[in-house]
Amino acid sequence: MTETQTNTRTIPRYSYKETLFASQKANWRLEDIIGGDKKLDFTQPLMPESFARVKELSFLSPGEKLKLNQIRGFDYLCTFGLVEEFILPFILDHARRQLQGDDYRVRAFLAFAAEEAKHIHLFKHFRAEFEDGFGTECLFIGPPSAIAEAILAHDPLAITLVILHIEWMTQRHYLDSVKDAQELDPQFRSLLKHHWMEEAQHAKLDTLMVEALAESRSQAELEKALDEYLEIGGFIDGGLRQQAEFNMENLQRSTGRMLSAEERAEFMTKQHQALRWTFLGSGMTHPNFLATLERLSPALRQRIEQVASVFG
Ligand SMILES: [Fe+2]
Ligand SMILES: [Fe+2]
Repeated sequence: MTETQTNTRTIPRYSYKETLFASQKANWRLEDIIGGDKKLDFTQPLMPESFARVKELSFLSPGEKLKLNQIRGFDYLCTFGLVEEFILPFILDHARRQLQGDDYRVRAFLAFAAEEAKHIHLFKHFRAEFEDGFGTECLFIGPPSAIAEAILAHDPLAITLVILHIEWMTQRHYLDSVKDAQELDPQFRSLLKHHWMEEAQHAKLDTLMVEALAESRSQAELEKALDEYLEIGGFIDGGLRQQAEFNMENLQRSTGRMLSAEERAEFMTKQHQALRWTFLGSGMTHPNFLATLERLSPALRQRIEQVASVFG
């Protein structure tokens, strides 16, 4: 590696102090978002069409499309509940190793962990509200502890790249598809808005974490970490395929209509791809995620740009 590359990599783009202050400003209470008279409205869609992609399924009636949209809202709640289960212990471990030195860094990571614990609680709350109001029990992949264990067995840099991907992805979900989508249920929009507000700080802290973990790595070691990031992506993709099958079952249960073999095949192709874009493609192609990879090494960015089209 040249000296210039080392220097570029080590100039931090974000500051722990500013991130901590932004986090203190954004901080909200769970009780202000959900509970009491703040309920999901099941006459409205929960998810933006860019992620739900129910309109492509021409064999579904408008009522069935609405049901499927809401089932996609349910998988969104469960997926975030699930990923935050491995993000929280990972951030706590990272913070635990860095208790000396920069006080702003310690406080910023502890705030990050506290917010993620709050998000786990929030997504559980929304999930319970969903289960209360939707009327049919829905299947979801898991258990979260087994998925967390499989992911946490990887190289910490690869895990941090996955977390960075997830947290920029939440920024894109809200800004590109939810912020101006008046047709969506207001409570679900509020969830994505409040999550976006705090995840903005997390994405910056992840960037600092990636830079710290990558600092002394050779090109070959960086490429190895990217291999593991892609392995985790492949593991998640397998889960998403299973979830598309569960969603088909969830739809059949909730509408009482059994799909034909042809309809099932079309459902699986299109809905697996919809899940891929929601949770893999939209993070992998986020400009700030790609910019961080490029700072580590332009070859890493090129590699991800090549594979991202599969998840579009
Ligand atoms: Fe979160
Ligand atoms: Fe987060």
